[in-house]
Amino acid sequence: MPASLKDHELINIILKRRSIRRFADRDITDDVFAAILEAGRLAPSTVNLQTWSFAVFTAESWRESFDRPVPFKGQRAVIVLGDTHRGKAVLDVFPYSPLVEYTVAVINASLAAMNMNLAAEALGVSSVMLSETGQSGFLDAGYLKETLALPEGVIPLMTIVFGYPRGPYPPLPPKLPLEQICFGGQYREADGEVMEAWLLQMMAGFKATHLLSSFEAQLRLYRSKMGQAESDLKEMVFYKE
Ligand SMILES: Cc1cc2nc3c(=O)[nH]c(=O)nc-3n(C[C@H](O)[C@H](O)[C@H](O)COP(=O)(O)O)c2cc1C
Repeated sequence: MPASLKDHELINIILKRRSIRRFADRDITDDVFAAILEAGRLAPSTVNLQTWSFAVFTAESWRESFDRPVPFKGQRAVIVLGDTHRGKAVLDVFPYSPLVEYTVAVINASLAAMNMNLAAEALGVSSVMLSETGQSGFLDAGYLKETLALPEGVIPLMTIVFGYPRGPYPPLPPKLPLEQICFGGQYREADGEVMEAWLLQMMAGFKATHLLSSFEAQLRLYRSKMGQAESDLKEMVFYKE
């Protein structure tokens, strides 16, 4: 980061953000949470279609819905859903292109999620985005469809858990250097050695952020749920004949 920009407020918020997996027993006020949701509502989207819905929970309402606490003892949670259902009441933009329609919904809802995540961070509230929550992440799309009574075209993407951090922020996890991810002109293959070193750092550093797990255990968990998630999502995304 250029030294001249290191005191820029928003840049600092972005640089300091971390996924937090330990939350304090301190509630988030309704005002603060409303501001976080508002940041999601005002996010940019393709043709301003706003192809998202937010399933919004307090710690209590989460427990009522899922019969378990919010992951990592978070105080609030939002399940961010791609939503191509709501707009169809007035306009069917993608009648013959379910993959494009789904992709647009994923792109837009993810932007809304990031807006909420950064707004939270600016207000001193930490968060983590989750695909796997035990029962209520996007890998459990079929279960969520039933539990939240989701109509066709509404697809869970991620759960964002919010709370005040308990303890200091973890160190920056290994991020690939700019030279590995940027190219000008034609695509450039990554440097194999840099990629190997990155993977080793990922495995070694995992414990710093996932106290009760390991990199290998996390991969095993994801793999164990992927078959079901793949078929649930295919049904939910490509429900059209
Ligand atoms: C869409 C999405 C899903 C994620 N799912 C999980 C998850 O299921 N469990 C988890 O512990 N972290 C999850 N994360 C957090 C990532 O592990 C985290 O962003 C990554 O390790 C980089 O760390 P950082 O956010 O602190 O930069 C997810 C992040 C994103 C964006």
